[in-house]
Amino acid sequence: MGKSYPLKPKKVKEVETKYRRIKTEIPVPESIPVLEKLRKYEPVSMTGQPLVVWDRAEGVNVYDKYGNKYLDFSSGVLVANAGHSNPYVLEEIKKQIEKPLLHNYCFPSEIRAELVEKIASLSPEPLKKVFLLTTGAETTECAIKLARTWGKKLNKKVIISFEGAFHGRTLGAQLIGGIPSLKEWIVNPDPDIIQVPFPGDPRVKDKSFSLFEKTLEEKGIKPESVCAVISETYQGANAGFMPVEYAKSLRKWCDENGALLIFDEVQAGFGRTGKWWGFQHYEIVPDLFCLGKGISSSLPISAVVGRSEIMDQYQPGTMTSTHTGNPVCCAAALGSIKYIEENNLVEHAEKMGKVFEEELNKIKEKHPEVGFICGKGLVWAIHIVKKGTEEPDGERAFEIVGKCVEKGLLFFAPVGPGGATIKVCPPLIINEEAIREGCSVIDEAISEVN
Ligand SMILES: Cc1ncc(COP(=O)(O)O)c(C=O)c1O
Repeated sequence: MGKSYPLKPKKVKEVETKYRRIKTEIPVPESIPVLEKLRKYEPVSMTGQPLVVWDRAEGVNVYDKYGNKYLDFSSGVLVANAGHSNPYVLEEIKKQIEKPLLHNYCFPSEIRAELVEKIASLSPEPLKKVFLLTTGAETTECAIKLARTWGKKLNKKVIISFEGAFHGRTLGAQLIGGIPSLKEWIVNPDPDIIQVPFPGDPRVKDKSFSLFEKTLEEKGIKPESVCAVISETYQGANAGFMPVEYAKSLRKWCDENGALLIFDEVQAGFGRTGKWWGFQHYEIVPDLFCLGKGISSSLPISAVVGRSEIMDQYQPGTMTSTHTGNPVCCAAALGSIKYIEENNLVEHAEKMGKVFEEELNKIKEKHPEVGFICGKGLVWAIHIVKKGTEEPDGERAFEIVGKCVEKGLLFFAPVGPGGATIKVCPPLIINEEAIREGCSVIDEAISEVN
C-alpha cells in the first residue's frame, strides 16, 4: 500500500494495434512538468495512479497528448459504463448547457424529475423513492442516517457491515468499512457498528449463513437490536459475491428481526455485473440501495433508492444537499442510462464476462503468482500472491499494473488489503477482440515481472 510510480521516463517497446499505441518513453518526458506540478500542489494521497496524463477519452480508449493510446480496463474507476465521452451523454450535456441551466439546488426542475422517475422505473417494487446526491460516500452516509433514524423509533441501533468492505472515505462510510488500516484515524469508533466475515471473499472458507449468526453471538449482538445490515453487492476489494443462498437467508433474517437490508451498489449498478443491479444476482430485494459511479458514465452524481416509509422520514428541507440533482449531471445520467438500455449493454456485459472468465482463468492456471480470480460481467479481480502462498503481494501487483501501462493497457493502481488486487473493469461497450488482446497483455506483464 502507499506506493507511487517514479517520475522517471523509461524506454519501452513501441506498440501499435487497433486498440493501443505506445510511441514514447513512459512516463512521457514532456509530461513530467505536469506530473511535478500535481505532486507539488496536491496531497501525497493523490499520487498513487499510473503516470498517464489524460488528455482525451473516447469509447474504450484514453489518450495522452503525446501520441499514446491506451485500452482502458479501468473505466476511470468503474465510472465510464457507457464508454468514455459517450455520444448520448455528450448530446444531453450540450442540450442542458445550451438552455442554459447549470444549477438548481432543491428547486424543482424538469430534468431532475425525469431522472428520478427513470431510476425509480428501473428499480423493483417497493423501492420507488430516489434521493440524488453527488458522491458515493454521501449515499452510504445517507443510508446510515436513514437506518439509524428508523431504528431509533424502534429502539434498535446496531448496524452490521462486512469485513473487507469499502463504502467511501468519509467518517460514517469508514465506520461501516471493513478494512482496519483505513480506520486507524477514527479516534472514537462506534461500538454499535459491527463487522462480520464476508462469505463472497474467496479466502473466507465458511460460506454458510450460520457464520453470520455465530459471529453476532460471539460479539454479543442481540438480533433484535440490529437496525440494518449493509453490504456492497460485491466487494470492491475482491469482486466476490455472496453465495445466493446466503443472501436469501440474510434477507429472511432481516425480515424476521426487523432490520433493514441495504446494498451499496455504487460499483455494481448500471449493468456492471451483467444485471442492471448487482443484487438481482441474489434474487432478493433490499430495503435501500446506493448508486454512484456508473450512473452517468461521467459527471458526479449519485443516488439513494428505497421504500417510501424509510426515505420519507425527514420533513421538508431537512434532508437535502446543495448539488442534489445538478441539472447537467442529471442530463449526463439520462444520456448514459438511455444508451445502456438502447444498446443492451447489460446483456452484453454478461456475455463479455464469460470471455473474461475464460481468459483470466487461463492466466491463473499459468501463473502461480495469481492467487485467485473473481468476478462477474465486466468486473473482475486478479489477486496477486507470493508464489506458493496465500500472502498478498502488493509490490508485484503494483509492478504488473506499471508494466501493463507501459504496453498501453490502462488500470488504476491495485486495491484491497495489501494492495494486491488488480481490478479489471473496462467500459461495458468493450468487444471480445479487445478483451482477448488486453488479457494477452496481462499475461505478458505477469511473465515479465520477476
Ligand atoms: C462500493 C462503494 N461504495 C462507496 C464508494 C465511495 O464512492 P465515492 O468515491 O464516489 O465517494 C465507492 C468508491 O470506490 C465504492 O466502491
